[in-house]
Amino acid sequence: MEIYALKDKLRLPKKLASIRQKYIDAGIPSLKSASLNELMLHVSIKNPKKILEIGTAAGVSGIAMLCVSPDAELVTIEKDESLFAEAERNFAEFGFEKRATLRLGDAGDFLNYTDAKFDFVFLDGAKSRYVDYLPDIKRVLNERGVLFADNVLFRGYVDGGVSYGRGDNAIVNNLRRFLDAVTADEDFISSVYEIGDGILIAQKL
Ligand SMILES: C[S@@+](CC[C@H](N)C(=O)[O-])C[C@H]1O[C@@H](n2cnc3c(N)ncnc32)[C@H](O)[C@@H]1O
Repeated sequence: MEIYALKDKLRLPKKLASIRQKYIDAGIPSLKSASLNELMLHVSIKNPKKILEIGTAAGVSGIAMLCVSPDAELVTIEKDESLFAEAERNFAEFGFEKRATLRLGDAGDFLNYTDAKFDFVFLDGAKSRYVDYLPDIKRVLNERGVLFADNVLFRGYVDGGVSYGRGDNAIVNNLRRFLDAVTADEDFISSVYEIGDGILIAQKL
């Protein structure tokens, strides 16, 4: 089994693969390969019409999702101005200006006021806020909509396998509250995977 798990399965267009590598080399946050592969697989299976992404960074995951869902439109939120500008350039490079709405600002504010509905939510922003976002994410998800959250096991700290310093207490506690809330919620069917930094995938019933 392991040999297949380790194989590089990532199917990125060449141009996106090289943009992604540039950001990895520059230390700009980007999904790990296995997590990005899983995200693309689930978006491709779901074939959503409307995707919400929280945490655009330079746009790599957003562009990857649009590449595997030809009918989809994306709304993506980023609070960092220079990453937002970088993402704008990258989405334009792929001709995705019409399919992608990039918003500069705080994801919590957007979630509070939006009345838009989504078929797929990719949660990849501030980990300590996931639990606060959950009620609004549930509200904006359509029936059968999918929530895909990255970093939920945070370096192995969240499931207790790896010890961590006091500085990470708040993030770990908030991620545990988030996972407990989703997995206990009877309106979701969910699973947590030890892929990359830990992924939660949930479908709203
Ligand atoms: C892990 S990175 C996203 C990586 C990106 N999804 C990708 O794989 O290409 C997380 C991003 O969330 C942004 N972020 C953090 N807190 C945020 C908030 N409250 N509102 C909007 N964006 C936020 C950060 O600036 C950072 O760019």
